[in-house]
Amino acid sequence: MTEQAGPQPTGLARGLTNYGDPDFALYLRRSFARSMGYSTELLARPVIGIADTYSGFNNCHRHFPELVAAVKRGVLAEGGLPVSFPTISLGEVFLSPTSLMFRNLMAIDTEEMIRAQPMDAVVLVGGCDKTVPAQLMGAISANRPAIGLVAGPMMTARWLGERLGACTDCRRFWARYRAGEIDDAEIAEIEGNLATTAGTCAVMGTASTMAAIAETLGMILPGTAAIPAVHADRLRAAEATGRAAIRLARSGPTPDRIVTADAVENALRVLMAIGGSTNAVLHLTAIAGRAGIDIDLRRLNKISDETPVLVDLKPTGPHYMEDLFAAGGVGAVLRELRPLLNLDCLTVTGATLGERLDGPAGPVDRNVIKPLAEPLQPVGGLVALFGSLAPGGAIFKRSAADPKLFEKEGRAVVFTSLEDLSARIDDPALDVTPDDFLVLQNAGPLSPSGMPEAGYLPIPAKLARAGVKDMIRISDARMSGTAYGSIVLHVTPDAASGGPLAKVRDGDRIRLSVRDRRLDLLVPPEELARRPAPSPPVPARGYARLYRHEILQADRGCDFNFLRKYPLSPELR
Ligand code: FES
Repeated sequence: MTEQAGPQPTGLARGLTNYGDPDFALYLRRSFARSMGYSTELLARPVIGIADTYSGFNNCHRHFPELVAAVKRGVLAEGGLPVSFPTISLGEVFLSPTSLMFRNLMAIDTEEMIRAQPMDAVVLVGGCDKTVPAQLMGAISANRPAIGLVAGPMMTARWLGERLGACTDCRRFWARYRAGEIDDAEIAEIEGNLATTAGTCAVMGTASTMAAIAETLGMILPGTAAIPAVHADRLRAAEATGRAAIRLARSGPTPDRIVTADAVENALRVLMAIGGSTNAVLHLTAIAGRAGIDIDLRRLNKISDETPVLVDLKPTGPHYMEDLFAAGGVGAVLRELRPLLNLDCLTVTGATLGERLDGPAGPVDRNVIKPLAEPLQPVGGLVALFGSLAPGGAIFKRSAADPKLFEKEGRAVVFTSLEDLSARIDDPALDVTPDDFLVLQNAGPLSPSGMPEAGYLPIPAKLARAGVKDMIRISDARMSGTAYGSIVLHVTPDAASGGPLAKVRDGDRIRLSVRDRRLDLLVPPEELARRPAPSPPVPARGYARLYRHEILQADRGCDFNFLRKYPLSPELR
C-alpha cells in the first residue's frame, strides 16, 4: 500500500476502519463516539490515548483510577481529548510461572493498541516491574509520540518501631524466619505490614530502577520517577503529563528521537550509580533492541568501572525510595553524573538532558545521594562475567555481594530444576558446606519456568541455622531487584538451550573471579562433550508456544526476535 501524499489525518480521523468507504467509516466512528456522550467540539480535538494498566491483580497500580483522572484533567486543560484504554497489566506476584514470560505479550498489546486506535499521542501509565519496560518496548515499536507516567513507590510502614518496605524486608524477615529467629505469629504480623500503600516496591528494586531509567532516557517528565505513589505531587505529575502529551502530539519528538544509543548509555550509567536491579539489564537491552541498539555487556563493564555508586538505598543501603524523593530524586543523581552523561539527548519535554540539568537545583540530602567526588562505592554495582560456564555472559551484582567471596573456587552442588531445589535444599542430608557453589539449572528464558526470580537460592536450612548468611549461587534465572547476596545470574546460554550450565554435575569445580570478570567450569571439554544436555519440549499451543519459538537469550533482553527492530539471523540467536 502506498502512503497518501499530503498531511496524514489526525485525531479521531486517524487510521480509519476499512469498510471501503473512508467517509462512511469516519461518519460511523463519530456517531459511535457520540454515543458515549462526547460533544462534536471535543471529538474534533487532538486525541491522547491513555494506556491504563489498572487491574485487580496488580496491587501496585491500585491508585491508577485517580492517576488517570489527573492525566485526563491535564489533557483537557490543554485542549485535547483524553481517551483511556486498557492493556494487559502485570502484577509481579500474581503471575505464573513468572511475569517476565508475559512482558513481551504486554509489549505486543501496547504496540498494537497504540497503532490500531486513533490517537495522536499516548500516555503510558505503568509501574510494577515488567509494565514500564513492556510499555516502552511497545511504544518505541509503534513510534507514535509517547510519554510515560510511573506509579511511584509505596510508603514504608512500621513494625515494632522498625521501618518496613517491600520487598528487601520481605526477604530479610523470611530469612530470619527460616533460621528460626522469629516465629509463626511474628511472620504473620510482618506479612500484614510489608506493603501497606499503593505503589511499587519501596526500595531500589526493578520497578524503581526502571522508573529511574525511564526518567534518564527522557521518556517521563523530569523529577517524576521517585515521587511516592500517594503523594499529592504524584497527582500533579499526572496532570503535567497529560499537558505534556498534548505538546508531544502537536510537535513530537517521537520515541525514536528520544531512545538513542547515547540515551541508552546514560541509562546504563544511572543504573550503576543507583545500584539498580539486575533485571534492568535485561529490560534496557530489550528496550534498546526495539530502537535498533545493541547493548554490549563488555561495554556495560566499562561503564560500571567508570561510574561510582551514589545512591544509598535498600537492598544495599539503609534508605527507601521515599528518602530518595526527599533527597532530591533522580534529578540530583543526574546532576552528580553530569560530567559522564551525553547531554544532547532529547526528552519528552522537547528539551535536551543538558537543558534540563541547567535548570535550578534543589537541596540534596547527602545521606542518601553522595557527591561524585565522594561516592558510596568507587565503581558501579553490576558487572558482566564471561568464561567457559557463561560464554554469552552472566550478571553479578557486586554491590549486593560479600567481597570476601569475589575470588573463589568451589565445588558445585547442583539442582536440576526449581522442583529439585525446593525438594532438597533443606534436606538435612544435603552434602553442602559454606564454601560450595550452589548451582541451579533450567530456570532460564527457554525453560518452562520462564526465567523466574529464583536466582536468590535460599541458604540451605542447616547452614542458615549455623549462621551462614551468604554463599556463591549460580543460575540462569533472574533475581528480584530487592534481593542481595553473592549471586551470579542470567548465565547465557541457559541450560534449557543446552548451554554449559546444563552440563555441570555435583562435585565439579567452578572458579569465580569478579576481578577478571570470569566464570569458569573447570571440567575438560572432552568430559563435557560426553554429558547430555536435554532440552525441554515445545509447548503445544497458545502464547507459551509463541514464547518458546521466539524468545531470545538474556544477552538480547529476552525479547522475541521478530519484535526487535533488526531481528537476528538464525546463527546469532
Ligand atoms: Fe509491583 Fe514490586 S510487586 S513493584
